[in-house]
Amino acid sequence: MFRRVVDNEIELELATKYIAKDIFEIIDRNRDNLKQRFTWLDSVKEPKDTVEYIKSRLELMAKGKTIYMAIRYQGKVVGVVDFNSINEDRKTVEIGYILDIEYRGKGIMRRAVKELCNMAFTTMGMNKVIIRCAHNNPKSCNVAKSLGFKLEGTLREFEEIDGTMIDLNIFSLLKREYEA
Ligand SMILES: CC(C)(COP(=O)(O)OP(=O)(O)OC[C@H]1O[C@@H](n2cnc3c(N)ncnc32)[C@H](O)[C@@H]1OP(=O)(O)O)[C@@H](O)C(=O)NCCC(=O)NCCS
Repeated sequence: MFRRVVDNEIELELATKYIAKDIFEIIDRNRDNLKQRFTWLDSVKEPKDTVEYIKSRLELMAKGKTIYMAIRYQGKVVGVVDFNSINEDRKTVEIGYILDIEYRGKGIMRRAVKELCNMAFTTMGMNKVIIRCAHNNPKSCNVAKSLGFKLEGTLREFEEIDGTMIDLNIFSLLKREYEA
């Protein structure tokens, strides 16, 4: 429920507890792959952890800080994408995403993120969309680059994930660039 059509294959759906199990299963199935990307993985052990996470996101959404969505591809939940760190004063927002490994390489995330940029600039009145991704995560960086995001810079050895210090690339797209 509460879906937005992106194209004839993809829909975005506001994450509610009714799809928590689908989202949990994506995280659980992709655990080995995701542990090199995220520090929070060990805190998601069972579906109720995802129910709680969604609840916290909905509370933050009510405060205008975030919007957490599932991606449906041909009707099936295959990933998640979110607006986070929404800053009305600066007119900036960050986008984060995860796609089930089985569905990668089809341009699904690129199309979903393109729609989020459209929402950010045309509906939410944002001026800048930011994507932060690890230097050693070319697939994530490619999503940003393929949509015209520019590399602003790199935060060197910014965080430790799975025992490795990670450089973090900051990509951004401005409203005037999006409209050009
Ligand atoms: C990051 C992640 C979502 C990317 O998934 P993906 O399937 O590669 O992303 P997309 O579906 O958008 O596909 C992008 C690919 O399609 C290509 N592509 C598809 N359609 C395209 C189009 N119309 N125009 C240009 N490029 C297109 C892109 O060039 C890119 O291919 P490449 O990376 O081989 O060059 C996925 O790897 C993932 O979930 N990783 C784990 C979680 C993660 O790292 N999240 C991000 C943390 S910052």
